[in-house]
Amino acid sequence: MTSTITTPGVARLRRHQHRQFAPAGPAAGGAGAGARAGIGYNLGMSRRIFVLGATGTIGRATVRALVARGHEVVCFVRPRAGVGGRLTPDDQARLLPGATLRQGDVQDAASLARDGFRGERFDVLLSCLASRTGAPQDAWAIDHRAHSLALAAARAAGVDHVVLLSALCVQKPLLAFQHAKLAFERELVESGLAHSIVRPTAFFKSLSGQVERVKRGKPFLVFGDGTLTACKPIADDDLAAYLADCVDQPALRNRILPIGGPGPAITPREQGEHLFALLGRTPRFKQVPVALLDAIVAGLSLAGRVLPAAAAKAELARIGRYYATESMLVWDAAAGRYDAAATPSTGTRTLFDHYAALLAGRVADERGDHAVF
Ligand SMILES: NC(=O)c1ccc[n+]([C@@H]2O[C@H](COP(=O)([O-])OP(=O)(O)OC[C@H]3O[C@@H](n4cnc5c(N)ncnc54)[C@H](OP(=O)(O)O)[C@@H]3O)[C@@H](O)[C@H]2O)c1
Repeated sequence: MTSTITTPGVARLRRHQHRQFAPAGPAAGGAGAGARAGIGYNLGMSRRIFVLGATGTIGRATVRALVARGHEVVCFVRPRAGVGGRLTPDDQARLLPGATLRQGDVQDAASLARDGFRGERFDVLLSCLASRTGAPQDAWAIDHRAHSLALAAARAAGVDHVVLLSALCVQKPLLAFQHAKLAFERELVESGLAHSIVRPTAFFKSLSGQVERVKRGKPFLVFGDGTLTACKPIADDDLAAYLADCVDQPALRNRILPIGGPGPAITPREQGEHLFALLGRTPRFKQVPVALLDAIVAGLSLAGRVLPAAAAKAELARIGRYYATESMLVWDAAAGRYDAAATPSTGTRTLFDHYAALLAGRVADERGDHAVF
């Protein structure tokens, strides 16, 4: 089932040659199943796609999906990318095979035009760009301002469709990075360009931080009794396939698209129970009261009035508190509750498949700069 929100912006949809194709990549059910069976595609032969945030978790997976579907992909990256700037240009080229890499500064309009778009025409701007820290200043600089600059440069390059990776949590915005994302979402909708704004639920990497500690014999940490929240975790490749579907399917244009992974919504307690079951051990939980997070937020906020470093930590603590108490499911404002049934699903991979793969050492997560656990 796919429920989507249609945004009011009326876009001028370009007339492309229509062509059916059977895309490569993982077979998947749910929201993208029809698409991956070749139904409803609107394809130019090979669309020229300008990608931002290609070196991030979802960006990498999305570039793989786009290249596999035969699109021409140009990634605008920093000279040193990845967590802590660990990726050299050679590393980046190895991570993004089949794509063209161009280096420059996404925060600089001149660099976007000169080093990125280079006066060439593109069909689509696809962005997985996001602040790596979620800190207010960085969020406004990247999630909002850099996107505004990229939107202007993309329009000048002939782009008429923008696919934006956003986040489901912006539906209930309390944090600076959520407001920054929403501000750009609004700008995009009002731009008159066709847009697909994808708001996913939680990624596997954000729910896997405790695998190692539990493996080492420690209890699984939960806030409250572990049932305060729920989400429908989505795999990187399943989300990437969905973002690629947004490029290919006219039905996914001019919409805000909440999207989760397959199966029912799961709580943190259920995540822990499955992890212990995979390890063949009796579940052991340590309950952390939300009041503790409140006290940390209050203390850091107070200290943050005089110490900028404390203010930044206070925002990170607020982010932690948000995810400890808010579900990553579609919010039903009228009913005042989260609605798992109204949260669409796509893909085939479950978080528990991922836990099993992590335990077996077949995959590793890159949790990045703002991992909570
Ligand atoms: N984690 C979750 O559970 C979750 C759930 C729903 C939605 N989301 C949203 O999904 C989005 C992407 O997540 P992700 O995990 O793929 O992100 P990520 O791994 O942190 O990647 C962020 C990307 O943005 C780029 N970037 C950040 N700051 C930059 C700067 N100053 N200049 C140039 N590039 C910059 C990074 O480039 P470098 O490699 O050069 O740093 C990287 O390519 C975020 O908007 C997040 O809010 C996350």
